[in-house]
Amino acid sequence: MNFNDAGKLLALFGAAVLANACSGSSSNDQDQAGAAANAADHYIPAATFQDVMDSVVDPAADYIWEAVSFVSDETGAHENRPRTDAEWHELRRRAVILTEASNLIGVPGRRVANGDETLEEPAPLAVDEIQLRLDGQHEQLVGFADAMRSVALQLVDAADRKDADAVMDYGSALDEACESCHLVFWYPESAEDYRQDQ
Ligand code: HEC
Repeated sequence: MNFNDAGKLLALFGAAVLANACSGSSSNDQDQAGAAANAADHYIPAATFQDVMDSVVDPAADYIWEAVSFVSDETGAHENRPRTDAEWHELRRRAVILTEASNLIGVPGRRVANGDETLEEPAPLAVDEIQLRLDGQHEQLVGFADAMRSVALQLVDAADRKDADAVMDYGSALDEACESCHLVFWYPESAEDYRQDQ
């Protein structure tokens, strides 16, 4: 076999692969849609809502709020802000956690708690009442999670730009994203009192 023959063979082989791919495309699409549906069934909400908040969402948000903040103590007023590349990278990590935490919030069927305790006060809704809302208003829940993701993406971008002012601004927006969901699903009746405490 000379080089020309090898080239022809390769061309033939390529054409065959292409033909195969084209003729099979519609069933491939169906297979892919089926596979995606099956994959969705495999998202298993192992942790409770409270645990996702306590272990994933809250520590990440707290880190960001503290990393860019004003504090005053006996030595005067100080401005906290990341100064080294490593510190900016730490902040960016927390923002990335929040972008993906929004997907965790959206996984359907997550239990609020293992028992019936709401862990923070004020807690005007009992756990089973919160559960009813989470399950019954899932689309609204996902909407709040989407809003949190948008802010988190801006925080990732601000970290990439090492822009502390933007982190401060989007940090406030993050707080609003948290609270707007909490006011619907967690402590709606005390919304007014809660706002007055802030
Ligand atoms: C999409 C809705 C939603 C968003 C967004 C959200 N939360 Fe929550 N959060 C909840 C629900 C529901 C609970 C459960 C309350 C309970 O069971 O007492 C909760 C509980 C908590 C708790 C109490 C956890 C515990 O110890 O039981 C904290 C702290 C918390 N959230 C912080 C945050 C912070 C910080 C953010 C934003 C960065 C945030 N959450 C965003 C819905 C949300």
